[in-house]
Amino acid sequence: MRIVRTVADVRAAVREARSQGASVGLVPTMGALHDGHLSLIRQARADNDLVVMSLFVNPTQFGPTEDLASYPRDEARDAQLAADAGTDILFAPPVEEVYPSGFATTIHVAGITDVLDGAHRGSHHFDGVATVVTKLFQMVGPDAAYFGQKDAQQVLVIRRLARDLDMPVRIVACPIVREPDGLAMSSRNVYLDAAARQQATALNRALDAAETTVRSGETGADAVIAAARTVLTGAGIEPEYLELRSAEDLAELDRVDGQALLAVAARVGAARLIDNRILEATP
Ligand code: PAF
Repeated sequence: MRIVRTVADVRAAVREARSQGASVGLVPTMGALHDGHLSLIRQARADNDLVVMSLFVNPTQFGPTEDLASYPRDEARDAQLAADAGTDILFAPPVEEVYPSGFATTIHVAGITDVLDGAHRGSHHFDGVATVVTKLFQMVGPDAAYFGQKDAQQVLVIRRLARDLDMPVRIVACPIVREPDGLAMSSRNVYLDAAARQQATALNRALDAAETTVRSGETGADAVIAAARTVLTGAGIEPEYLELRSAEDLAELDRVDGQALLAVAARVGAARLIDNRILEATP
C-alpha cells in the first residue's frame, strides 16, 4: 500500500492504474478504523481493481462544540488496518491540501439535510460532508464510492449530490456492522466508559423492538416509535431524536408503508451515538 498526501500524487496514481484499464473504488474515512470501515474496504476490493482509502478528519463537518480536537487519530494503526483489508492507496492529505487559503466554496444539499442530524447538529454538518465528499470525488475520480448505512442520512445526501451534479460515480451503501451485543460500530464508541457502553446497547434493542412491532402487524408510526422509546427509557436514555421517515427522501411518515427508516440519535455517557433500521411492512 502506498501513502500519498497530495492531490497531484493521488491523481497520478489513479491515472497510472486507469491507463491499464483499472476500475477505481474509493472509501472515504476520517480514520479511527473499525470493522465497519474494513467491511467497506473489503467490498471496494471485491468490486474494483484499485482501492483508494482517504483518511481525512474533515474540520468543516464539526460544529464549534463538537469533538474535532478529541476525535481519535492514529494514522499508523489505520494504515496497517487499511493495508491488511486490501487498500492499494491511502490518501491522507493535510488540512491545507483540502482547504487551501482562500477556500470559499460550499456544497449545500437542500431539503433532506433539514431534518434528523441536520436539524440537531446544524446545517454546517452536511454542508461540510457534501463539500469534502465532492472534493474527494474530484480528486480521486472513482467509479464507485463506499459508505456505511449507519450514517443513513449521509448516504442519502451523497446520493443526491452525486445525482444532482451528474457525478459519474456509483454510491454503494454497505450494511451496518455491529458488536456481538448489537451496538453499531462507530469511531465514537471509544468515548464510552464501561457503564455507558452497556447502556448504549439499548439503541439496537430499541430498533429491534420497533421491528418486532412492525412484524406483528402494527405499522402506525406512534406505536412503532413508542416500542423503541420504551426500551430507551428503560435504559435511562432520552433520545435527541427518534423518528420514522421515508427511506428514500426522509419525508415524515405516519406509518410504515414501503421502506421506512427509523433513525435514532442519543447522548450516552460522553458519546453522541446514532443508529437506524430500515423497516418494511409485510403485505
Ligand atoms: O462518514 C465519515 O467518516 C465522513 O462523514 C466522511 C464521509 C469520510 C466525510 O468526511
